[in-house]
Amino acid sequence: MSAFNEERVLSVHHWTDRLFSFKTTRDQAFRFQNGHFTMIGLKVEGKPLLRAYSVASANYEEHLEFFSIKVPDGPLTSRLQHLKEGDTILVGRKPTGTLLLDYLLPGKRLYMLATGTGLAPFLSVIRDPHTYERFEQVVLVHGCRQVAELAYQDLITEELPKHEFLGELAAERLLYYPTVTREPFRNQGRITTLIDSGKLFDDLGVPALNPAEDRVMICGSPGMLRDLKGMLDARGFHEGNTTKPGDYVIERAFAEQ
Ligand code: A2P
Repeated sequence: MSAFNEERVLSVHHWTDRLFSFKTTRDQAFRFQNGHFTMIGLKVEGKPLLRAYSVASANYEEHLEFFSIKVPDGPLTSRLQHLKEGDTILVGRKPTGTLLLDYLLPGKRLYMLATGTGLAPFLSVIRDPHTYERFEQVVLVHGCRQVAELAYQDLITEELPKHEFLGELAAERLLYYPTVTREPFRNQGRITTLIDSGKLFDDLGVPALNPAEDRVMICGSPGMLRDLKGMLDARGFHEGNTTKPGDYVIERAFAEQ
């Protein structure tokens, strides 16, 4: 049996000239957990060209969704950005990853810290009812260069609070904090700076980040992961992984190629 399913593109949405999302069909046998990534790609000259992508849709949805950057000379994304409804893409049958609720110890508050397309796995996690069963407060922080890059704001602030099953809990427990670094916006600055200064916590009306109450998931560029990991380690947080749950878990935002 092939390692990939062939899925059909159902729709494509371009957020900016650097970012786009697309939905595909989902093989009925394809199972994943919210927060997982899988290999996806295209056949190029008869050979599969694949990269890791987090699944942005929830695991109970009928379709799959992915959120991608466009790199003009990127081997995959330079082609993927031209996807149209009806095209075929390859989706790996073996999803995996560390950004799972299972790899975090119990806590009061869950932080999801994302830059750019690092938001993708958290779009899945915020639509998981277990997230709200396990945490009293769920904080989603999304850092981008520009306001237009704050993708999925409507889903987070409009659709989710009205969701048939999740709506009430999400409206009560989910705090969304978008922030921008290269133009004016109501929240400004890098996530690292906002944590260091304490502004993030003041704005949200929550206590400063602490390992007694808080759990953290991080997804972004290698530099962002390195800096945030250093800050969490310095505050006494322990990293979890697929074999041992911890206070925080990390995954790089893959879609950089
Ligand atoms: P900045 O504009 O100051 O570089 P990118 O599009 O390059 O992936 O960046 C997405 C967002 O992540 C930008 O707001 C960027 O801020 C921010 N960023 C880049 N590096 C880091 C880092 N090491 N720690 C925190 N945020 C970062």
